[in-house]
Amino acid sequence: MSVLIKNGRLVTAVDDYYADVFVQGEKIALIGADLTVEADTVIDAAGKLVIPGGIDPHTHLDMPFGGSFTADDFQSGTKAAAFGGTTTIIDFAIQTQGRSTLEGLDAWHSRAAGKATIDYGFHMIVTDMPVERLGEIDKLVEEGVTSYKMFMAYPGVLYADDATHYRTYRKAGEVGARISLHAENGIVIDEIIRREVARGHVTPTWHGKTRPCRLAAEAVFRAAAMAEVAEVPLYIVHLDCNDALVEVKRARERGVDILCETCPQYLFLDDSFYDRPNFEGAKWVMSPPLRHRSNNEPLWAGLTKGDISLVATDHAPFNFEGQKEMGRELFTKIPNGAPGIENRMSLIYHGGVVQGRFGLNRFVEVTSTAAAKIFGMFPKKGTIAIGSDADIVIFDPDVQRTISASDPATHHMRVDYSAYEGLEVQGWTETVLSRGRVIVQDGQMVQDGGGKYIKRARCGELLR
Ligand code: URP
Ligand code: ZN
Ligand code: ZN
Repeated sequence: MSVLIKNGRLVTAVDDYYADVFVQGEKIALIGADLTVEADTVIDAAGKLVIPGGIDPHTHLDMPFGGSFTADDFQSGTKAAAFGGTTTIIDFAIQTQGRSTLEGLDAWHSRAAGKATIDYGFHMIVTDMPVERLGEIDKLVEEGVTSYKMFMAYPGVLYADDATHYRTYRKAGEVGARISLHAENGIVIDEIIRREVARGHVTPTWHGKTRPCRLAAEAVFRAAAMAEVAEVPLYIVHLDCNDALVEVKRARERGVDILCETCPQYLFLDDSFYDRPNFEGAKWVMSPPLRHRSNNEPLWAGLTKGDISLVATDHAPFNFEGQKEMGRELFTKIPNGAPGIENRMSLIYHGGVVQGRFGLNRFVEVTSTAAAKIFGMFPKKGTIAIGSDADIVIFDPDVQRTISASDPATHHMRVDYSAYEGLEVQGWTETVLSRGRVIVQDGQMVQDGGGKYIKRARCGELLR
C-alpha cells in the first residue's frame, strides 16, 4: 500500500514548509515538492497542516482503581485517541505488591493485545522492589519498558516508601532507564483528609482542599534530591501547579536531570469546578487535583519556555453514573481521574497556537516529538522524516468545534461526560495515518485494529 499526501504544509518540531509526502508500506519514503510518484491513495492536504501523529505518554486504559476499572479499554480508548490525532500512547502496566513487575507486564500485554488501533508502549508502575527482585529491571529494559512510574501518593495502594524509591532509582539509572514520579506527599495528605472528614467535610470540593500545592512541591524537591544522588533521569508526571514547577526549575538549575509534563486539565480548568452543584464536581476529582486558576498561566508559560517538556492527558475516565457516584457520601471513594485522550491535540493547538502563546513547531514538539525523544521512540515516532513510521495527522487549522459528550463528532471516548464540555476550540484532526494505514479519513474511522506494541529504547538511544 502507498499513500501520497499532496499540497500540505508540513510542520515538525523544527521544520515548516510546503511539501508532498509519499508513504510506502509503514514508512515515510519520500518528501519533496510536487512529487509525481504513483500511489494507491492520494490525499489532497491543501490548506491543512501535515504533522507527526500525536504521542500521549500518559494514559490509563482498562485500569483498576478504587474498586472500579477505567471506562475505556484498549479498543475504545485507542480509537478515541485516533479521532483526536494521537497515533501512539504509553500506558501504565501495574505491578501488584509482592509480585513480579514482569507478571504485571504480561497482564497489561493481555489487556491490549489485538485491541489497539494505534501503537502503544508501557511504563511500569513499581509499587515495591526488594533487592532480590532488582534483576527484573534488566528484563524490563529488554522488553522495551524503559521508564518506571513511582508514587509518593496513594498510601496502601500505589505508594512506595523512600527506600523503595531510592533503590529503584539507582537501578534504573544503572540500566539507562527513566523514573517517572507522581509527586504528592500522600502520607501527609491522608492525615489532612482524616482531619477534614472527621469535621464532616465530605463533598468533592474537599478533594482539592486536602491536597495543598506545597505537598506537590515538597515531593518534587524530595524526588529530585533522591534522583540526583541515585544518578537517574527524573520525569514529573501530571505537573499541576506553579509551586511544583518552581521546584522543577530549581532542581534543573543546580544540574539535576529532571523533566516534566503537564496536562490540558491543569492548563484549561481550575478548582472552581469542584463546587458545581449536584455532585457534578466529582467529574474532575483527579490526583493531583485541579488548582486555583492563578496556576493556569504559569503552566502555559512553562510550556512556552521549555520548562515543561510536553502535554500528556493522564486519561483515566470513569463514568459519572455508577462510578464517580460511588463517592456521593464521601469524596475519598470517588475514583480518581478524568477523560481527555481525544481532546489533547485540539486543546493545545487552540490554547497554544490560536491564542498566541507559541508557534506551530512548539505545538508539534509538545504534542509529539518531545515524548518520542524522552521515552525512547525517536525517530521512529515523533517526526516526519524519511524512514520514520508513517504516523501522520492532517490537521485543519481553521475548523472550529464545540467539545461535547452529546455530540458524536467530538466525543468517541466510552465515558458519559466530557471534562471540557462546551469548550470551543479551533483546529481539528481531519485524517490520520498509523504506520501508513489511513485509519481516520475526514473525521470518520475507516479502519480499526492493527496497533502494535512498541519496544522503547533506553534514555538517549535512537529507535529504528
Ligand atoms: O487521578 C488520576 N490521575 N488518576 C490516574 C492515576 C494517576 O495517578 O495518574
Ligand atoms: Zn499519577
Ligand atoms: Zn496517571
